Amino acid sequence: MTSTSKTTGADAASIASVDAAKAYAAESLIAEDIDAYLEKHQHKSLLRFITCGSVDDGKSTLIGRLLYDSKMIFEDQLSALEKDSKSSGTQGQNIDFALLVDGLAAEREQGITIDVAYRFFATEKRKFIVADTPGHEQYTRNMVTGASNADLAVILVDARQGILTQTRRHSYLVHLLGIKNVVLAVNKMDLVGYGKDWFDEIVENYKEFAQSIGMENFTAIPISGLAGDNITSLSAGMSWYKGPTLMEMLESAPINDSRMLDRDFRLNVQWVNRPNLDFRGFSGNITSGKVKPGDDIRVLPSGKTSTVKSIVTMDGDLEEAVAGQSVTLTFNDEIDCSRGAVITNASSPVEVADHFETTLVWMAEEEMLPGRPYIMKIGSNMVSATITEPKFEVNVNTMAHEPSRTLKLNAIGVCNINTDRAVPFEAYNDNPDMGGFILIDRITNATVGAGMIHFALRRSQNVHWQAVDIDREAHAAQKNQKPRLLWFTGLSGSGKSTIANLVEKKLFALGKHSFLLDGDNVRHGLNKDLGFTDVDRVENIRRISEVAKLMTDAGLIVLTAFISPFRAERRMARELFPDGEFIEVFIDTPLDVAESRDVKGLYKKARDGKLKNFTGIDSPYEAPQEPEIHIDTTEMDAEAAAERIVSAILNESD
Ligand code: ADX
Repeated sequence: MTSTSKTTGADAASIASVDAAKAYAAESLIAEDIDAYLEKHQHKSLLRFITCGSVDDGKSTLIGRLLYDSKMIFEDQLSALEKDSKSSGTQGQNIDFALLVDGLAAEREQGITIDVAYRFFATEKRKFIVADTPGHEQYTRNMVTGASNADLAVILVDARQGILTQTRRHSYLVHLLGIKNVVLAVNKMDLVGYGKDWFDEIVENYKEFAQSIGMENFTAIPISGLAGDNITSLSAGMSWYKGPTLMEMLESAPINDSRMLDRDFRLNVQWVNRPNLDFRGFSGNITSGKVKPGDDIRVLPSGKTSTVKSIVTMDGDLEEAVAGQSVTLTFNDEIDCSRGAVITNASSPVEVADHFETTLVWMAEEEMLPGRPYIMKIGSNMVSATITEPKFEVNVNTMAHEPSRTLKLNAIGVCNINTDRAVPFEAYNDNPDMGGFILIDRITNATVGAGMIHFALRRSQNVHWQAVDIDREAHAAQKNQKPRLLWFTGLSGSGKSTIANLVEKKLFALGKHSFLLDGDNVRHGLNKDLGFTDVDRVENIRRISEVAKLMTDAGLIVLTAFISPFRAERRMARELFPDGEFIEVFIDTPLDVAESRDVKGLYKKARDGKLKNFTGIDSPYEAPQEPEIHIDTTEMDAEAAAERIVSAILNESD
C-alpha cells in the first residue's frame, strides 16, 4: 500500500510505533504469501540506511511510518531473503554487516545486549534495510554499528529543537564513516505549523556545520513522520517545498556495493580449507573488486604471488566473483596464506604496517587508557594494540581540536596506535573494510571503540632494534644467576616495600645482583609527572615494566613494589618477559588491616576527602587471580614472608 492521502489524527496515533506497523503488516497480504513476495522482490537493488540524530527526534515514528507506507517484511524473514540474494550472487550484496557489526556480533554471542535492530521493507522500486537503534540513543555505539556499511544516513532533527550536539556528533560520524548520501530530515513540521522559516533556518545552520566538517552534500526535507508529510507523497500543508519526498530519496540514492566493484581486488582470508592433501582453498569475503581464474594475485603480509586456479562455491566453480561475495580461492602454487592474510591483485597490493594514525570513537563508559593493550579487530585479524595519547580530541560543536589525555564515552579523537604485529590495511577512505577496526577490552570482551586508519606511520619501520654482542644471556652468565622479575602488588600500606626490601637484603647476602624499584621512589624521578588517575597509573606501570625489562636484560633480579591495581597492566608487564621470568607476588592485606595501620596517614586523608582516587577507597584494586606467590600478611610477619619468597624463587632457579 502507498499512502497518498494524509492520515487522520486517530490513524496517526495508531501507527506511531513500530509495533503498530507490525500489527498492520501481519494482516497484510505479504504475511500471507511471503514466498511469492520474495520471488517478486529478489532482483531489486537493496539500500541500507541508518536513521540517527537527537534523542526524541521521532525516529521510531518515522520508521513505523516507512514500514507502514511501504510493504513490510518481518525481521525473521530477512534471513530467508539474505540467503536468496546471496545465492543469486549477481547483485554483489554484502549482507555480512562487515567489520564493525562483526565485532559487535561476537560481543552479542557473549551475552551482551546490543540495541540495533535491522528492519526490512520494500517498495515497488527497491528493498531496504534500516538500522534501527532504539534506546540508549545517547550512545554513539549503536549509531556506529548501524552505520557500518550503510549507503545512506537520515539525520533526523526535531523542527522545534533545531541542530543539537547529538545531531552534530552523529553527522560528523556519518561523514567520518564515509557515508556520502545524507538526508537532513527536519521532522515534526506539523508541530511548527508547517512553517517554511523554521525549516530554512535549520537548513542554513546545518549547511554551515556541514561545511565545517567537509560534508559536500546533503538533501534537506521537511517532514512529519507522524502525519506522513513528504514521506511517500508531497505534503499539502507544505506547498512551498518542491524537493523530493523521503521515499524518492531512498529509492534513488546510489548504492555502495557498486562503487566497491570498480576498486582493486581484495579478499580477507577468514579461514583456510584443507579437507585433504590435494585441496587447499582460502575462504573469505571479497571486500572490493573482482577476481577470475588466471588472475595474478599477491598475498599480504608475506608478499608471495601466484595465479588463481579456481573460485569454489557450494554450487560449483565460478567464472568470476565480485565484491560482496564470500568465496573460496585456490592457487596454482603452494604459497603461504593463513587466516588474517589479504589476497590482492599482484600489481596493486595493500600496505602492511604496525603503527598508524587513526580517528577513534570511544564507545565505553570507562575512559580510554593510553598504554593499555586492547584487542584490535581489523579485517579478519585480531592483534594486540596500544593507543598512544590522543593527538587531539574533536569538539563536535565547534570542530576545534582540543588537547586531551584520554577519550571519554562518545568522544572522537585522533590517536596513534601500535599493534604487536604488522597487519595488511588500506586507508579507511579508500576501503572501509580494510581500514576500519574495532577495539575490544581484553578482560571483559566488550567493544570499547571503533576507528578508522588514516595512514601508516613510518617510525615503526625506521626505528630498528639494535642487536648488541653482549646480550642478556651474557649479562646473566657473568653474574651467575637467572634474571627474574618479582612483581609485588597489593594495597597501599600492605607491606610491599617492607617485604621487598627484606627480600633484596637476603638476595644481596647470598651474592645475588638485584635492584628494587619502589613506587614512592620512582614517582620522585622518572614518573614524577604522573598522578593517580587511571590513565596515569597505567602509564606508571607501563614505564616500570619497560625499565624492569631493561634491568633483567642486564642480568639483574629485579623487585618492583607498586600497587599496580589493574589486572590488564600486570598482564601487560608479564607479557614482556620470557615464560617463568615474571613472578607475581601478591601481598594480601585486607583493606581494613592496611587502613588501621595507616603508616603514612593517607587512608585518613582519603576518608576525609582530602586525597582523591585513593586505592581501595575511591579507586579500585583488582586482586591477582593466580599469583605465583601469595602472601597473607595476617598469617605471617614480614620476615617469614621474605624467607618464603627467597626460597621459592631460588629453589626453582639457581
Ligand atoms: S600505582 O597505583 O600507580 O601502582 P604506586 O605504587 O606507584 O601506585 O604509588 C603508590 C604510593 O603512592 C602509595 O603507597 C602512597 O604512598 C602514594 N599515594 C599517593 N596518593 C595515592 C593515591 N591516590 N592512591 C594510591 N597511592 C597513593
